[in-house]
This record gives sequence, structure tokens and C-alpha cells, in this order.
Amino acid sequence: MPRPTQAFIDLSALTHNLTIVRQYAPHARIMAILKANAYGHGLLHTAGALKDVDGFALLELDAAICLRNAGYRQPILLLEGFFSTEELAIFEQYQLSAVIHHNEQIAMLSVSRCHKLDLFIKINTGMNRLGLALEQFPQTISHLIGNQYAKSITLMTHFACADVPSEKENVTQQLQCFEAVTKGYNYPCSLANSAAIIRHPETHTDWVRPGIMLYGASPFPDRTASELNLQPAMTLSSKIIAIHDLKAGDRVGYHGLFQADHPMRIGIVACGYADGYPRHAPTNTPVLVDNQRSRLLGRVSMDMLAVDLTGIENVGLNSLVILWGKEISVDEVAQSAETTSYELLCALAPRVERIVSQ
Ligand SMILES: Cc1ncc(COP(=O)(O)O)c(C=O)c1O
Repeated sequence: MPRPTQAFIDLSALTHNLTIVRQYAPHARIMAILKANAYGHGLLHTAGALKDVDGFALLELDAAICLRNAGYRQPILLLEGFFSTEELAIFEQYQLSAVIHHNEQIAMLSVSRCHKLDLFIKINTGMNRLGLALEQFPQTISHLIGNQYAKSITLMTHFACADVPSEKENVTQQLQCFEAVTKGYNYPCSLANSAAIIRHPETHTDWVRPGIMLYGASPFPDRTASELNLQPAMTLSSKIIAIHDLKAGDRVGYHGLFQADHPMRIGIVACGYADGYPRHAPTNTPVLVDNQRSRLLGRVSMDMLAVDLTGIENVGLNSLVILWGKEISVDEVAQSAETTSYELLCALAPRVERIVSQ
């Protein structure tokens, strides 16, 4: 029997979440973000479930080529663009769109004049991650237009704080900055990630770029995915592979971080940080054992973790354990481990078998 650690990917949840994106942004085109192996869910079946979107975006060139070879005809945007002149021929061959965020990239286009691409010009409106400086933008765009480097142009930016309830003003500032600098240029625009799609409809413009909400997690600390009517697309599960009865005073796992203060029964689950479960999840992080809520005990190890079996009925070797999924959301686990659902989903290890269901 193979190791029982598995991730179930629910394609109907992905499709459902796409309908929620459409409800929030009925007039925008949708560019589904598939970077990092579709946030850990697996590229091709995720793309299949989202096949009706207007475009895909990611930042791994091999994955983009894989999508094109699989027959998808919609725009495929590389979010960090190209890194060398050599890549330009590949972009053209596979009809890939590129984010331009730096004048170096324009220099590459001018060296290799023959390649005309669909370009998304990214403007830094305050996040200070990627994007042309505001004062650079007019000159750069005239240069692009003047030299006819682009097959098409779209203008974009990215919000730093759309997910933070107290930072509404920051989103407004970035939006105003974008509007001011792009005023007078009649090109389609793309601004909104999941948080902005839900909370800032004024940012929708022509293309929205949902990521996390498609996978059924909440972009917000103050609203759950189920409140947003999003369905989790991934369930991470494993089984109990050992059971121990502890006396008061017995300690559990590396460094004995958990100590029993009364006799208790614990289960050892075949899932650890080498599978993608967060090592920093503390005692009391919720888990579901045979459909009953329980908790993690002690330090997560590379391949295993311990759970409390106190009061859990009918449990034994091979009992099913859900680490995250419908009843215990990935957001809840992330919050307990002081991280985000993004990090947990992306960190799902290649050794975990992904089982896809319709
Ligand atoms: C440029 C860009 N757009 C859109 C997204 C999607 O963001 P989210 O997953 O929060 O919807 C990301 C993800 O980090 C991104 O980097």
C-alpha cells in the first residue's frame, strides 16, 4: 500500500469559484493566476477546470509552454516577463504575453527587433516590487509605441494592501496614482487581484487577475472562504499509522514540546513538513480525525505529526485524518501557524500524490 498522504483536488470547486469571480466582476475579462503549479493544485487539470477564462498568468516559462502545447488559445501572460533576449523567440513562437516592468526589457526588445509581443506594461504605483517608476512611464510607452515593439499593449499595476481591511486608503492612493499616470492613454488595464475583486469593485477595469479565491481560500483575515461562498479546491489527508497511550508527564516528539498532564491517547499521522504541512504549526492547531475535530500536539516532524485522540470515537490505525479541506479550512491552519493559505498551498510537496476529482 502506498504512503497514505494524499491531496484531493476538486475540479468542480475550481469551476464554482470561477463563477464567484464572475459574479464579483461581471464586466471584466478574467486572467486566472496559475503560478507555482497553480498554487500547488497542479497545472493542467486546474487549467482544464478553468478553461473558460479569458487568459492565464504565471511566471514559469516551461509551464506556459506546457499550457500552450495543451491547446489553450487564450493569452498566457508571464508575470515577470522575459529575462534574456534569447527568450524572445520562444515568447513569439508560443504567442506568450510578457509583463514589461523594467527598461532593461525594452533594451532587449530593441536588440532583437524582429520579435513583436503582446505586452503588459507594469507601473509601480506604490508597492515597490515590480513596475516602471511613474516618471519613467511616459517616456517608456512612447518609445514602445514609436518603435512598434508591441503587438498589443495593456497597462497594469498590483496592489500591496487590498487584503488589509484597514488599508482601504492605500488601495485608493494606488488606484488614483495609476489613473493619473495613464490618463490619456487608451489601452486596456489590469489591476485587481482576489482581494481587490471582492472589496474594491472600482479597480476591476478590463482584466481582473484572481488567484487565491479560485482555489477556495479567503484573501482576507476577517472573512472566511465559506462566508465568501468559496469552496476549497484542495483537501490534504493522511492516516493514523501509530497509536500510543501516554501517562501524565510523558512528552511527545522532538524536544518533547508537548507534555501530557493526564493519561491520554495520541495518534501519529503520516504527514510532516516534507509534505508541506507547516513545521511551525503549534499544539492545538486543528485537525479532523475520523470526521471529529481534534488538535495537533508538539513539534511537526519531517514525515509525521502527532494528534490528540482524547474523546475521539472509534479511532484506530488507518483512521482518516484531514489536515485541511472543507471542515478545517487551509486558512484556519495557516492562521494557527502564523502564515497564509498561499504559502501552505504552494508548499504542497511533489511527493504528495494529487488525486483529481470532477
Ligand atoms: C501580479 C499578480 N497578479 C495577481 C495575483 C493574484 O493574487 P491573489 O492570489 O491574491 O488573487 C498575483 C499573486 O500574487 C500577482 O503576483
